[in-house]
Amino acid sequence: MTGPRNSAAQSDWAAQIKGRIRQRYTRLARGGTFPTGGAQRLLAAGYPADAVDGLLPALMDAYSGCGYAVPESGLENISVAVELGAGAGVDTALLAQRLPPQARIIAVDLTPAMLERLRTSLPPTPEGALVFAVAGDMEALPLPDGVADLVTANAAFTLCTDKAAAFAEAYRVLKPGGHLVARDLIREGPLPREVLEDPLSDATSLGGVVTQADMEKCLKTAGFSDIRIGDPRPFSYVVSVRLETRRAD
Ligand SMILES: C[S@@+](CC[C@H](N)C(=O)[O-])C[C@H]1O[C@@H](n2cnc3c(N)ncnc32)[C@H](O)[C@@H]1O
Repeated sequence: MTGPRNSAAQSDWAAQIKGRIRQRYTRLARGGTFPTGGAQRLLAAGYPADAVDGLLPALMDAYSGCGYAVPESGLENISVAVELGAGAGVDTALLAQRLPPQARIIAVDLTPAMLERLRTSLPPTPEGALVFAVAGDMEALPLPDGVADLVTANAAFTLCTDKAAAFAEAYRVLKPGGHLVARDLIREGPLPREVLEDPLSDATSLGGVVTQADMEKCLKTAGFSDIRIGDPRPFSYVVSVRLETRRAD
């Protein structure tokens, strides 16, 4: 997804796509029209069985990620995690269970209806982290610099109309030494005609899928170090990958 060259047209184009994304995810959040499958879909996406066991069906039914990316280790010293494009909160719930009780998770999403669903379907986490739902655009986060020890995202960067801005924002809100751990989509060649000719594909996860080289370029330009992109899994016409990197300075 690159959009028109003229900058006024570019910003109209981005605003229209974000409007369509909000419409689509509002419908999903309110109408329950997610692909069915719940726990089975999570297991097929690579979630460990013990993680899935404790989740409420209302959460699993609203999953729209592209694979398992919740960090398993190094969580004991985290005081603030930011989840970008959190959706209805499967990964938020899993992260909340794993973080220490005094930790905070700021779950950001462009679609307020998704955050409403997140607030109402998260299990109570008396032992885990506190979750704050914040409506916002991950290309211009409503958060201060250097607030997070960890930034996570699942199938969210792919929907951004300005991926360089989204990665730069992830970097900005991380503390020096903080980590970005995400699952997202890359393409290994041109997108197929069905996707390119679908005027609504920019509002699904597919229309904006970039190559691994473009993703790495955005991450490096943002300032990230030790970039690791791996664990490829087929996802519709493209590939889902795990991304891990960190802010060094
Ligand atoms: C494919 S869904 C994934 C949701 C969730 N991460 C999951 O795994 O179920 C993408 C989510 O990103 C949100 N989103 C899309 N563009 C965004 C942006 N620019 N800023 C913040 N959230 C965005 C959508 O509203 C949607 O909830």
